Amino acid sequence: MNKTIIVSSPGKLIIGGEHAVVYGRRALVTSIGMRLYMQLIEEEQDKKLINISLHDINKDYSIDLLNLNELYPIEIQAIIFIYNYFKLNNQINLQVRSDIPIGAGLGSSGAFSVCLVGCFYILNSNIINQEDINQLAYKVECLFHGTPSGIDNTISTYGQSLIYSRTFKKHINFRLSNLAIIDTGIPKSTKKMVDLVRLFVENNQIQSEQILNNIEICVDTMIEHPEQINQLFQRNQQLLKDIGVSRIEIDNIIQKLAENNISAKITGAGGGGCLIALTSTFTKNEILELLKENNIKSIEFVECGVEGLREEQTF
Ligand code: PMV
Repeated sequence: MNKTIIVSSPGKLIIGGEHAVVYGRRALVTSIGMRLYMQLIEEEQDKKLINISLHDINKDYSIDLLNLNELYPIEIQAIIFIYNYFKLNNQINLQVRSDIPIGAGLGSSGAFSVCLVGCFYILNSNIINQEDINQLAYKVECLFHGTPSGIDNTISTYGQSLIYSRTFKKHINFRLSNLAIIDTGIPKSTKKMVDLVRLFVENNQIQSEQILNNIEICVDTMIEHPEQINQLFQRNQQLLKDIGVSRIEIDNIIQKLAENNISAKITGAGGGGCLIALTSTFTKNEILELLKENNIKSIEFVECGVEGLREEQTF
């Protein structure tokens, strides 16, 4: 009989500590109510073949593992890597769909990595072992991003909100009401921004050490004194600007919001992508009106602190 496994896992928002987390500092991250869904069907026949449908980008692939002769996109390389990792011999049909925008800093590749490993792990052993899945999902994330901090795959696996560093993770009860995601619509590259910060750190060792420490102090204070969150968003944003990951369009949006007492900051790598804003009583339309000259792409209010990787009944 064919075997079907369906899983989903959430995207994420970094509330504070992006970039500093690459250098071992603590960050605060929360999962969000946007999920990626993956369905794996293992066919009975002995055939090293993977059929893949990526619904959001309208792409289908049929990969004959005994005859690999193309350079595939990274997500396809990741699927082949995991198929081989679990030493499978049967035909696999894989479908992916997602609510998480791609390349916006909301953890779409992290959720992809976690769901991919999750599906094959459950196929292999019938259970979800979060620790194992997270470790292997980190290896998949490395295919996408080089040597990421691991924050994306970890929050997508475990869900809720986490204090996270490379050597430490702890669930915390952290929720923000009226948190809006503002998509600047400016394309960004995590790798480019991480490389930019690396250059800054190498060339400004004393100054960068101080900035990274101050970012970590911001994060710790967000956790200990959530009532100060507005000032801490502003402070963290200034520090991100100091290490060079903001840009004039982002500064202008943040300035316009600040004039209306809305605190906002970059979330994720910066250079474009998304901002998060504490919107107090403003509605989506009111913010759209405030930012009508800033060419933003969208605003979404999202639920935070949701469940991590889980099995689903339907795709
Ligand atoms: O890919 P993004 O935009 O979610 O950024 C990842 C966060 C960084 O701290 C910039 C990189 C990392 O590996 O943690």
